[in-house]
Amino acid sequence: MGSAAAGRYANAGLSPIEADAVEWLDGFYQLEHLLCARMWVMKLCPEASAEVKLATLVHDAERHFPGGPTSTPSDGFDDPDYLFAHSIRSADIVEKWLCERSPAPDEGYIRRVRRLVLRHEIGGNWEADFVQAADSLSFLETSDWLTVEWVRSGRYTVEQAREKLDYSVERIRPSLALTAALPLFESALQALESAHDTDIDVKCQREIASSRSLLLGLARE
Ligand SMILES: [Fe+2]
Repeated sequence: MGSAAAGRYANAGLSPIEADAVEWLDGFYQLEHLLCARMWVMKLCPEASAEVKLATLVHDAERHFPGGPTSTPSDGFDDPDYLFAHSIRSADIVEKWLCERSPAPDEGYIRRVRRLVLRHEIGGNWEADFVQAADSLSFLETSDWLTVEWVRSGRYTVEQAREKLDYSVERIRPSLALTAALPLFESALQALESAHDTDIDVKCQREIASSRSLLLGLARE
């Protein structure tokens, strides 16, 4: 068992800039989380703008690059010091990546993507609320192996990891997203509670979840 499945995003229909972003973040252990979040934002909001989709796809980018803020289990998952530092660093890294493209997207596009990445943990307007909700739904759907890894490695207890699941649901604002979250929460909780006696292959799940070629179903080079 485990949520990460090779080829799951073969039909993701990525735009050229989205495809480049996935290549940029290849190897990131949360690459599947990002692809799944983009899928959710499109489900929740079929008219989502290009900026909303890209921001959702790269919202956690900073975690792929060493030197980011760290949180300790005792701070909880809603620690504003961590969440703000994480969001600002992601927005900075994404903005730099966009500015370095040739040709660079226009300033307005870059500013809108930056603002959505900055708001992905807190929401605050309807577009940002959808980005935040998609982040939550994706975490609930794709992070069973990660929460099991947390517990098995001793980083968090089952109770502490459960707080992350609770927090992911509680912060959702659009009612459509909340309805979608409940069954995902149930399965995520089940996976977490059986962390010590499930046969989930965490190493293999992490490998799939990090790999652009596996997630997109591309032939291995
Ligand atoms: Fe996220």
